[in-house]
Amino acid sequence: MTAGPTREPLDPARFLSNRSSGKMGYALAKTAARRGAEVVLISGPVALSEPAGINTIHVTTAAEMREQVLEHARDADIVVKAAAVADFKPKKYREQKIKKSSAEPLIELEQNPDILAELGGTRRPGLLLVGFAAESRNHEQEGLNKLRRKNADLIVVNDILGAATGFDVETNQVILVDRSGSRQLPLLSKVETANRIWDHVLTLPSPPGRSL
Ligand code: PMT
Repeated sequence: MTAGPTREPLDPARFLSNRSSGKMGYALAKTAARRGAEVVLISGPVALSEPAGINTIHVTTAAEMREQVLEHARDADIVVKAAAVADFKPKKYREQKIKKSSAEPLIELEQNPDILAELGGTRRPGLLLVGFAAESRNHEQEGLNKLRRKNADLIVVNDILGAATGFDVETNQVILVDRSGSRQLPLLSKVETANRIWDHVLTLPSPPGRSL
């Protein structure tokens, strides 16, 4: 289970990040634990307290998140990637704080590893892979594209432009896209959305090689 943003450092004072609060991922972790799952929560920097009884691993950058995800995915039954992993990072880290006096700095970016795509590309038999999609348009089609491109079993699409959905709000309204089709959930609390996601995950066909 991943949650929250990643932070990609630019200089000792600045970083690239996003508006993820971790609420969606923490809700998924808590509801899974309440259902009896053994949960490892790999969390970017958030202002939420660690959920009781859950092994929470704190990371900062996409590279650190990747390392922890690949390590723990090795013996996981289900991986859910709700984290908002930064797609890019500054190509060069400045050891000194960039001073205002200098001309506007041009910041070159480079791609971060796509952890979900990497997990999908090296599918371990028995692993059930759930990704999220933060979209602002063509939600269902984008979800389907991601399902195929990342070889996931389920993509949870949420609209990041809505006032009551996506980043840093208590509610969400998601579309569940899997190989059998898609279904739109109503606007619910993130906790209730998490419960509905787990209910749906339990209806998915066991991935080949699942020993359960
Ligand atoms: O944390 P909250 O404030 O509650 O907000 C919840 C949320 C909006 C962050 C969450 O519901 C959500 O949409 N998370 C995914 C955000 C995201 O990165 O979406 P994406 O469409 O850019 O990425 C698609 C998938 O690939 C995601 O599962 C993401 O975890 C994964 N990814 C993305 C980039 C990357 N370098 N590696 C990845 O694994």
